[in-house]
Amino acid sequence: MTGFVSQCLEQYIKTLNSVVGDLRHHLPYNMQKYGLMQYDEKFLLVQLSRSLQPNSVIVEVGSFLGSSAAIMSNANPTVDLHCFDPFEDSEPRQVDGSSIIASALGPDTPRSLSAVQALLKDFERIQLHQGYSPWSFMEWSTPIDLYFEDGLHHDPEFSANIDFWSSHLKIGGLLVIHDHRPWLKEGDYLHFPAVIDRVRALQSDSSWRYLGQVYTTAVFEKLDASNDLALRRRAYEAFVDYQRNKLRG
Ligand SMILES: C[S@@+](CC[C@H](N)C(=O)[O-])C[C@H]1O[C@@H](n2cnc3c(N)ncnc32)[C@H](O)[C@@H]1O
Repeated sequence: MTGFVSQCLEQYIKTLNSVVGDLRHHLPYNMQKYGLMQYDEKFLLVQLSRSLQPNSVIVEVGSFLGSSAAIMSNANPTVDLHCFDPFEDSEPRQVDGSSIIASALGPDTPRSLSAVQALLKDFERIQLHQGYSPWSFMEWSTPIDLYFEDGLHHDPEFSANIDFWSSHLKIGGLLVIHDHRPWLKEGDYLHFPAVIDRVRALQSDSSWRYLGQVYTTAVFEKLDASNDLALRRRAYEAFVDYQRNKLRG
């Protein structure tokens, strides 16, 4: 019986991989297995990425080991994907009692820019940018087609990221927010009030069309750009506050 169940599971994973793209040739198997998104969310990223025209620009804030980036680039190799992350081993994550970083990089290799670059070496159009978003990247000016937010889910970073990067989205561009779990109780470690408040505000904002949510991933289409300057100004004000607080220690 156990053999039959494990065969079924294996077949199930094979079917899922055939949709997301079997990345085992590019990424260590465990990294694909331990990616931080559910399969239905991976399907969503595949479909969204495939919907983009050649040479579109994707910005991903929060890339960790590059799993979601690899999924999007594999689904549509004609897009330019910019990943923003500190790329340092500051957030040990466990799945089923084992460290994701250790399973992807080996027990003695910490997460670093060069380690993630090596994992993603086959994806020519993925560019890694090391630093804390948005503070280290406030000079960015390229228009964006899809912005995937999966970095720090707390303020001030979360709101400043949404303000800053969505102000660079083109009209018709897609804002994709991960880890929106309004059904969890306050105090649960995966309940992120900043994410919940912003998704609620966007749902009633006429500059955005809410396209729906797959598991924890909410998707919006930008309808007009009249708030861009105000959004950017708010992000710069948050940046000034951040610098001031840093100086105060
Ligand atoms: C949930 S993980 C991202 C998972 C990734 N998107 C995936 O599905 O494979 C969150 C990442 O955000 C990064 N992060 C935290 N603060 C950040 C910031 N201010 N700017 C950019 N990335 C940040 C962390 O280092 C971590 O790698």
